[in-house]
Amino acid sequence: MLLIKGSKSDILIKDGKIVEISEDIPVTKDMFVCDASGLVVAPGLVDMHVHFREPGFEYKEDIYTGAAAAAAGGFTTVCCMPNTSPVADNKEIIEMITRKAKQALINVLPITAVTVGQEGETLTDFAALKKAGAVALSDDGMPIKNKEIMRKAMIEAEKNDILIISHCEEEEPMVERDVNLAGETGARIHIAHVSTAEAVETIRKAKAAGVRVTAEVTPHHFSLTDDIIAEKGTNAKMSPPLRKQKDVDAIIEGLEDGTIDAIATDHAPHSAEEKALPFRDAPNGIIGLETSLALTLTHLYHTKILSISEIIDLMSVRPAEILELKAGLLKKGSIADLVIFDPDEKWSVDPEKFKSKARNTPFGGMELIGRAKYTISRGKIVYKG
Ligand code: DOR
Ligand code: ZN
Repeated sequence: MLLIKGSKSDILIKDGKIVEISEDIPVTKDMFVCDASGLVVAPGLVDMHVHFREPGFEYKEDIYTGAAAAAAGGFTTVCCMPNTSPVADNKEIIEMITRKAKQALINVLPITAVTVGQEGETLTDFAALKKAGAVALSDDGMPIKNKEIMRKAMIEAEKNDILIISHCEEEEPMVERDVNLAGETGARIHIAHVSTAEAVETIRKAKAAGVRVTAEVTPHHFSLTDDIIAEKGTNAKMSPPLRKQKDVDAIIEGLEDGTIDAIATDHAPHSAEEKALPFRDAPNGIIGLETSLALTLTHLYHTKILSISEIIDLMSVRPAEILELKAGLLKKGSIADLVIFDPDEKWSVDPEKFKSKARNTPFGGMELIGRAKYTISRGKIVYKG
């Protein structure tokens, strides 16, 4: 049994579940005590958007190293995007990921492709893929250019009660198109990595009009502007790209007023060789799992923009709700997936210490505030900081 003591209430964990939450649980010999004095105990973080690169690009990251990076960042559930090689657009690959994920430190769930090969033409078999374990659909990395295909996908997704996560480029017109289609078809749509002021406003209006739209932002899009590219080069290259201060301000407003539902990393590992290419040729993407909580606390909590409980909503409760996962809960009877973090610990980001295989981050050398101290997955301590 694991007993978490010293925070607001004591929490007792047995057989992977929370069995008791109360003021003062007496310690007995068969308990391992975890001291959370002065720390925040929260439901484990949920990242609905990561790239773990299996199958095909294991040199960048694999399910196990990705899960270890997630655990170090305070995450207990992550959902991995299907832009692998081959694309995770079929039952066999989804089952392979689910099978491998059983041995991972934390819960890794597959997202499958909307179209075969993410080619934007033929829909995948939504019903079979959902049955095989896919938790959502996305052609992440490849916007679905054809409006009629997107309309068909939404109708089919609505029938099968599965969420489409839309990767929008040329962001304003595409977000507008997708929320309009969601309005027309009655489907749910989730907009990945919102990065512009205009997109935030489009989503705000659609929500007000009753469209079933949710949205996520990444820590890099609320903490950096494109000014940093001069210094960080390809480690600040991603899709969608970093924007201007007015966009960062609008994203923060969207986080404050509930237009934005979730924070997701878009953890996108690449090798040092790939990121050493000239800017134009280097691949898009940066890693994010081991800096996400700290960036959020530094830029949104220590600036007094959001409270700790609003941050837990954005990083755990809401993403779990959006994907209808058994996560984001801290109550008696729920799975013991927890993070215990110090919101005030100052530390300097050293990518060499990351659990991820990759080092492509623009945050190396930066001073951040807040850090996971323990990550508990299904009742077991899987990370201790
Ligand atoms: O920057 C990105 N990298 N954006 C994406 O949408 C895809 C991702 C990747 O797979 O590397
Ligand atoms: Zn992505």
